[in-house]
Amino acid sequence: MAAPEHIVKRIAALRKELNEHDYRYYVLAEPSITDEQYDALMRELMDLERRYPELRSPDSPSQRVGGEPTKIFATVRHDPPMLSLANSYSEDEIREFDRRVRGLLGTQEPEYFAELKFDGVAIALTYREGVLVQGATRGDGLQGDDITNNLKTIRSLPLRLHKPSPTFRNIGVRGEAFMKRGDFDAMNRQRSADGERLFINPRNATAGTLKLQDPKMVAQRPMHFFTYALFSGDARLASHSENLEILRSLGLPVNEHGKRCRDIESVIAYWKSWEERRESLPYDIDGVVIKVNSLRQQERLGTIAKSPRWAIAFKFSARKAETLLKGITLQVGRVGTITPVAELEPVFVGGSTVARATLHNEDYIRDLDLRIGDTVTVEKGGDVIPKVSGYVPDKRPPGLVSFVIPAECPACGSRIHRLEGEANYFCENTECPAQVRARIEHFAHRGAMDIEGLGEAAVNQLVDLGLVHNYADLYTLHKHKAELVELERWGEKSAQRLLDGIQHSKTRPFNRVLYALGIRHVGESVARLLVEQFPSIDALAGASAGDLQTISAVGPRIAESILLFFGEKHNRDIIGRLKRAGLTMHAPDRPTTGKLSRMSFVLTGTLPSYTREEAKRIIEAHGGTVASGVSKNVRYVLAGEDAGSKLAKAKQLGIEIITEDEFKTMIG
Ligand code: IVH
Repeated sequence: MAAPEHIVKRIAALRKELNEHDYRYYVLAEPSITDEQYDALMRELMDLERRYPELRSPDSPSQRVGGEPTKIFATVRHDPPMLSLANSYSEDEIREFDRRVRGLLGTQEPEYFAELKFDGVAIALTYREGVLVQGATRGDGLQGDDITNNLKTIRSLPLRLHKPSPTFRNIGVRGEAFMKRGDFDAMNRQRSADGERLFINPRNATAGTLKLQDPKMVAQRPMHFFTYALFSGDARLASHSENLEILRSLGLPVNEHGKRCRDIESVIAYWKSWEERRESLPYDIDGVVIKVNSLRQQERLGTIAKSPRWAIAFKFSARKAETLLKGITLQVGRVGTITPVAELEPVFVGGSTVARATLHNEDYIRDLDLRIGDTVTVEKGGDVIPKVSGYVPDKRPPGLVSFVIPAECPACGSRIHRLEGEANYFCENTECPAQVRARIEHFAHRGAMDIEGLGEAAVNQLVDLGLVHNYADLYTLHKHKAELVELERWGEKSAQRLLDGIQHSKTRPFNRVLYALGIRHVGESVARLLVEQFPSIDALAGASAGDLQTISAVGPRIAESILLFFGEKHNRDIIGRLKRAGLTMHAPDRPTTGKLSRMSFVLTGTLPSYTREEAKRIIEAHGGTVASGVSKNVRYVLAGEDAGSKLAKAKQLGIEIITEDEFKTMIG
C-alpha cells in the first residue's frame, strides 16, 4: 500500500524545514527556533519514517542522529588522490616558495590565497544529483575508509546541496572535520567522571570518533567541518577564492578567515597575525596554508610526488618538545583523588618552561606506555596546559619497567583504592594531611572565599604546625595571633593581613560559601544553581535526591555527592561552626512584603514581551523567587510560546500555569 499523499508531503516539508534549521544553526549561527521545537520536528519526522519505511531516504535529516552500525568500513578510491602539503616553518622558506612559484610561472604574477590550517582530520565528500552519497577518510591519499554514516551526523554538512545549478549537482568536496576545544574539554571531563579513557587532543578525539562503528555514538560527539576544495567537471572555474564562494553558496561551511594576498609579504603578515591570535579561535589550527589562487596557474605548476607545487603549509613554531621523564609522583586532591604527575627535565615549549605535567590517571600512563627514564614528547594545546603526549621509542633505554601505582597514599600511608568504573585511585582517609591542605586551599582560593594571604605556603605552615585542621579552624585563628606573629617569615603585618582577610571573607555570598565547602562535583555554576532553588544551607541539607534533581543540571551523580556530604556528622559539625562564626549561609534576603513574596516561579518557553532575565528580575523585585526546575515547591509556572518538558511536568504535578498577561495582572 502506497503512503498517503499528505504523509509524503509532510515528510518532504519536515525534511526541508529541519535542513534549513541545521544550516541556520550550524553554519550561520543564527537559529530561529528553540531546541525543543527542533526536537519536536525531528521526532515527528522519525516517527513518520518508522511508520512508512518506504519513504526513508539517505538525505533525510533523521540520518543525523545516527544510522545503522557498520562492521567494517568499505574502501573508497580517491579521484583525484588526496594530496598532502609540504611544510615550512620560517619566513625564509616561504620567500623561497614564492621565488620557486615565480620562476615556474615566468612572466605571470601569482596571487595567493591564505587560509587557516585546521588541525583535524581530512575528509573527501561526494555529492551526486545534489545529495551527499559518500564521505571518506584520507587513508593513504589514494584510498580511504567509507565513513558516510558517521559524517552525516555532522550538522554543518548539508545532506543535500542548496539549489545547485546543473553544473554543481555532481561534485567532489574536500575539507577538514574537527572538534572545538570547549566541546573537547567538556567531553574529556565527562569521560574522566565516567572512568573512561581521555583523549589527548581534539584531533585525536575527532579521528577516534570518525572511526566508531556506531553512528549513534558519533552523533553524541559534537564535530564540525570546514570545506577547502571543490572538484567539478566545469572547466569555467577560475580561482580558488571563487570556488570557496561557490561552496558557500551550495550551503557548505567555509571558514571565514581565508584571505586573498597580493604578495608574499602580506602572506607572511597573515601568518604572523594568526600565530598571535590562534588562541582566540574556538578550534585548533597548526599553521596557515598558502595556495596560488588562479586555477590555471595551479595547473601549470602541477604536482610533485604527493604534494602540489602551488601550495604549502606554513606552520606555527613548535609547541611540542622532547624531554626526560625523571619520575612520576602522586598528588592527592581535596576529595582524596590521586593524580599521577610527570616530573620532567625542565624544557622550553610554547613560550614557557615546563617541569611538571598531569598524567591524569593510571590508564593514561598505560595507554601511552610511559616509563620513568623515557624521553617523552610534551605538547601545549590551545588551552596552554602542557600535556605529555607520548614517548620516543628510539630513545627508550633498555630495561625500563612499566609504571605501577603505589599501594599507599604518599601523604598519609593509607591504602589507596580504585573503585569500579572510576578512572582514579582514592585515598579514603579524610584526615589525610594532603587532603586537609588541599581542602583549605580550595576554600581560600580566589573564586571561593578569596582569603588574602592564605596561599599554598601559608596553608602548609598552618596545617603542619597544627594550628588549623579544617577550614572552620580559620575562624578561630585570631586566638592564636601571637603564634602566627612568631612564624618564620611572618611577623605582625602578615599575621594581621591574614586575620583581616579571614574576617572579610564572612561577607562572601552563600553561593561562594557553598562552592568553597568543596563538595565533590559542586563547582561554581552548580553552587549558583543550588542556591537559587535552596536558599539556605538548611534547605539544602534537608533536600532529597529527588528535590535536588529538579535542577536540570543536577543528575544522580551530583545529588549523591551532596547527600553524602551532608550525611557526614563531621561535615555537619563544621557547618555549624561556620554558621556560628557568621558566614553567609543563606541567599540574599528578598523583599518579603512584595506582591509575590514567598512565591516560587518557573519560567518556560518564550514570553511575548519579556526576556527570561527581565521576567526573573521583575519576579525578584516583587519578592518572589525563580527556580530552574519544576518541583512541588513551585507555585506558578509562567509559560510562553513553545514551552517544553517543564510545562508537561507542571501539568502532571498540578501546578498552576499562567500566561504573561495573567502575570502582569498579578503584579498590577
Ligand atoms: S589543502 C593539495 N587547506 O592539511 C592541498 N589542507 O598536509 C590539500 N589541512 O591533509 C590540502 N587545513 O588535512 C588544505 N585550509 C586547508 C587545510 C588543509 C588543514 C590539512 C589537510 C591535509 C593536510 C595537508
